[in-house]
Amino acid sequence: MDRRAFVTKVPLTIGAAAAVGAGAEAAQESPPEPYNRNFPQAGNPGGKVPDFAKNFVTTDMNGTGPDGKPTGQTATFSGASKKGVTADTASAKMQLTADEQAILDGKEGPEKAKLMKIMVRFGETFGATKMVDLGGAPHSNLFIGAPYLGSLIDMLNECADAGLKSYATYTVNPRPYDVYNVQNNATEMEMIYQGYPLQMKLDYVHSRLGAPDLNYRSCACYLDEVGNAPDPGTYVAWCESSAVNYGNSVLGIRTNRYGAGMEMICAMLGKAPLFGLMTDEGRKAKWLIDVKTTGEPDWGALGTAIGRKCVEDIPYIAGVEDYFGGEVNNQNMHKLKAMGSATAAAGAVGCYHVEGVTPEPKEKGRDMLAEGYETYAFDDAEQQRIIDTFENLWPDQDAHPNAAFIGCPHNTYHEVVKWVKLITGALEEAGQDETAIPVYMFMPNVVRTRFLEEETELAGKARRAGMFYTNMCAVVYSGMKGFSDRIRGVTNSAKTRNYSSIRYFPDDKLVDIILTGKI
Ligand code: F3S
Repeated sequence: MDRRAFVTKVPLTIGAAAAVGAGAEAAQESPPEPYNRNFPQAGNPGGKVPDFAKNFVTTDMNGTGPDGKPTGQTATFSGASKKGVTADTASAKMQLTADEQAILDGKEGPEKAKLMKIMVRFGETFGATKMVDLGGAPHSNLFIGAPYLGSLIDMLNECADAGLKSYATYTVNPRPYDVYNVQNNATEMEMIYQGYPLQMKLDYVHSRLGAPDLNYRSCACYLDEVGNAPDPGTYVAWCESSAVNYGNSVLGIRTNRYGAGMEMICAMLGKAPLFGLMTDEGRKAKWLIDVKTTGEPDWGALGTAIGRKCVEDIPYIAGVEDYFGGEVNNQNMHKLKAMGSATAAAGAVGCYHVEGVTPEPKEKGRDMLAEGYETYAFDDAEQQRIIDTFENLWPDQDAHPNAAFIGCPHNTYHEVVKWVKLITGALEEAGQDETAIPVYMFMPNVVRTRFLEEETELAGKARRAGMFYTNMCAVVYSGMKGFSDRIRGVTNSAKTRNYSSIRYFPDDKLVDIILTGKI
């Protein structure tokens, strides 16, 4: 292996992990070999944060109020937003065990030593003083084979060449395109092959490092069919904002919000620095969200409101217990999936607690609230105010929609059956054979296979009516060059709406639009 090449590439991972823009500086400012853990000494216990990390608190997820104005809160990626925070705020000195020190000293090879070096610097930057062993299985959101990820993919390949592997079979986000079901036209295929030239290289290195076949690709890795749902309390390293906050909140696992690549380093070491959302203190809620809507809330609007208000602070949500009947199950989990993913798209919420519903408040009640917490009331008027902020971003605002997007995060099996029945039932009632616009249903292949096996007739009927089952990522598709010029999309996903020009509608309205092709 070209050792020098490896060194210059490794810090890019930290850049990807914490802040766009830090990587290039990191590549030039790596400390000289051998790594000196005391670098630099002055100031706080861990020393001054090096220059390359100065952008670690720069993010597009800083607080923005519903009025579009900055709230002053800054995301720190540690599970607690702050005002006036700087990169120096969290710096610490890591205490290593003898085994960890041996890895750092190169006893298990130069590649692993460098991964450990990154891990130590990463942990110290975020205030960790020790590492913990990981359990369960990792989840990676390194899923786009675009040129800008080339150095990171090369780094992973060098690790695979050296025989490194994830400590457990891990799951990966959906691929960014689908040339089988949706993008099987010449123009989009051309753009895909030009835009993602490293896709096969990325897929290949994932399989070398321990990912299963592509049928398991999904952001909803915790679905029964995909099977990555570690036990409560398990330390893991997950990367994908919607999966991280579902895992922390509903499963009760303990993971920070990693950036793409850092979770793979944790996976290959089987360790992660202990800070933020992995600690008891870091999981306490700074906000009480008092839901007072007269009926079931719009989960996407609620999540968006929470994300904008809390930034990355943890919310404790009260007033929605009745909509879960005492437990989260396959029939109602989509509500938390929709809400949680919106908190992580409109803000950077990595964990939330729902009174009487999710595991930690079920056990500890309002002890999960931090001292001095603030309260935010979410009533019908506030819900409407949030929905009204979703302005129409289509270039031609008065034109008719021409595609529907359902399943960001990926649909559960229950959602697939529900939507297919809703739409085929409505078509029958209207005496129509086909939907007015194509409906893209996003789900992992393992869910689609189950659906085809268990609801064969329904699946065929819906497909003939204009519904497409695809395993790609909805938002990456909507990020394609020229997409917003040619596609006027509608969705029930607030996450999709927060990241794209696709318009957001409640379920019943969406069915109507799908049938009529009109809003
Ligand atoms: Fe999943 Fe892509 Fe949405 S990864 S959560 S479908 S942005």
